[in-house]
Amino acid sequence: MNTLRSRKEIIFLGALVRANRPMATLWYALLLLRGLLPAFLAISTGVLVTAVKQGDSLTGPLIFVGGVFIGYQTLAPLHRTASANLGSTTAAWLNDRLMIATTRPTGMAHLERADLIDDLTVARDFDLGIMGPPMHISIDFIATGLVEMVVGFASAMVLFAFAWWAPIVLLAGWGSTHWLLRESAVWADRDTPEVRDAQRHAEYAYRLAVDAPAAKELRLFGLAPWVVDRFSTRRRQLQELRWRATQLREKSMIGALLIVLVANLGVAYAIATQANDGRIGLGAAAVYLTTMMQTSTVAFGGFGWALDGAAAPVAAVLKLESAMAEAGTLPNGSQSASGKPAVSIRFDNVHFSYRDDTPTVLDGFTLDIRAGESIAIVGVNGAGKTTLAKLLCRLYDPQSGSISADGIDLRDFEIESWRSRVTAVFQDFVQYERSLRANVAPLGASDEAIHQALLDAGADDLAALDQILAKGYPGGTNLSGGQWQRVALARTLCCVNEGAGLVLLDEPTAQLDVRGEAEIFERVLNATRNATTILVSHRFSTVRQVDRICVVEHGKVVELGSHEELIARGGRYQTMFDMQAAHFVETDASGEALTYETL
Ligand SMILES: Nc1ncnc2c1ncn2[C@@H]1O[C@H](COP(=O)(O)OP(=O)(O)OP(=O)(O)O)[C@@H](O)[C@H]1O
Ligand SMILES: [Mg+2]
Repeated sequence: MNTLRSRKEIIFLGALVRANRPMATLWYALLLLRGLLPAFLAISTGVLVTAVKQGDSLTGPLIFVGGVFIGYQTLAPLHRTASANLGSTTAAWLNDRLMIATTRPTGMAHLERADLIDDLTVARDFDLGIMGPPMHISIDFIATGLVEMVVGFASAMVLFAFAWWAPIVLLAGWGSTHWLLRESAVWADRDTPEVRDAQRHAEYAYRLAVDAPAAKELRLFGLAPWVVDRFSTRRRQLQELRWRATQLREKSMIGALLIVLVANLGVAYAIATQANDGRIGLGAAAVYLTTMMQTSTVAFGGFGWALDGAAAPVAAVLKLESAMAEAGTLPNGSQSASGKPAVSIRFDNVHFSYRDDTPTVLDGFTLDIRAGESIAIVGVNGAGKTTLAKLLCRLYDPQSGSISADGIDLRDFEIESWRSRVTAVFQDFVQYERSLRANVAPLGASDEAIHQALLDAGADDLAALDQILAKGYPGGTNLSGGQWQRVALARTLCCVNEGAGLVLLDEPTAQLDVRGEAEIFERVLNATRNATTILVSHRFSTVRQVDRICVVEHGKVVELGSHEELIARGGRYQTMFDMQAAHFVETDASGEALTYETL
């Protein structure tokens, strides 16, 4: 445990250098100087006392004392400034590392693993400050603590000139107190499931309270007290855990105090006796007594709570980089996917589950899709439709079986190359807090292409291209759910214009009004007629418009054919269709009944 702890601290001290080498060098240099100066101050005072006693010239000793004193006074504020600077740049560096750790892996499994998500909460604490002060503040405490350690050791070194045993006795004495204080200040066993759990829940409750999307339900369902309670209980729990872990132990405290007392009295007695005997001069006695007292800073300085509190998240950040890369990186192939799929997409006996401990989602899924056709995937909630889309984007790999494009396994393609061939409207598409233009073409496209995409998605009249689609920005606006869905559709259609060959539409019109849905889907199909289009939808009015329909159940294809074929077959598809059609009677503006047949 001890080696682990010190390793964490070493990692932290090294991270400062990695984050900002020049500033860290300055910070360490100032730390050393500030640590050494009190010993020099003691020596210079001794030199002055000796000069006074012997009636020598005082100019030299006074300059010595003055110089050391000025240095002593000015270095502290300088060091504080360097600390603030180093703290902020280190926090920025750590944030960068976290962004890289989370976004660089080609897959996404690392963001779904509970242990890594816990690590992420611990890691972010250098910034969040739930467990301790944020980095730009704690670094100053760390600096002071380390300076005190150097002061103590440097002062003890001066005492070697008096007697070899004096620094050893003093350091041992104060060392016992240091150990005791450290035990009481450092939360050694913070990395437990209980602590992590409390941290994660506190963070979750905090997010619910401050993020706008949860605001509606918190108010409507009266959940605000629950959120506040959850946050404060977890915080209290963390404080209690910390308190319990760091209580002073009374017995050893008395022991440590006795050791300190005996050590100091012993050394002071020896100095006094020798001064009295005339074996050492008055100046030397002053130096030794001062440094003896300064050695006490060893007890209070150093590796206390601040260093421990800052070192834990830093170690977590640096650990996450490799852990997330390992969990989330998919093997990369070497083949170019340019022009694919030109012939077909094939699922061949695919078995897939998200993790070893979660149920099988796809259980021998086999399906041939012809390039250029449009195919709909139909199935109940949780049947695995979105999973199929994610597998096609190669966000995960199947445990067995294969998915191929034109006979080439997706794993053999260069991931980026394959992904540039695919575009998707995901069921949980993202609403970017950016302009309409950037929402439609995040990587840029001509105005003409953007306008065309917006037109096809029925979103041409929503906002000016450069208007920010989020409140909280100058001139920003927000859209309704259905309007956002049109924007997401336009984003995908823009990619199709740019040449994407495989289009995945996962409930692309679920939030659109009925008339808008039928009309827009027709336009979308038209715009994607040169691409292979896979549609997931629960709305049979859209499903029936595609070339072929595939019904998924229990992780397998149970029916496949055109709308007419499947209706004629009278199986699962027909049952589902009839159920929906029976419930679906709506009147249009003229009062005429609209059904699936008329739509
Ligand atoms: N990231 C995940 N980790 C673990 N299990 C998951 C994950 N995503 C989905 N699942 C599970 O996989 C199964 C299939 O989910 P999927 O999202 O593919 O269903 P779906 O057919 O798209 O459903 P819906 O019609 O509701 O959108 C579900 O049982 C779901 O609980
Ligand atoms: Mg889904």
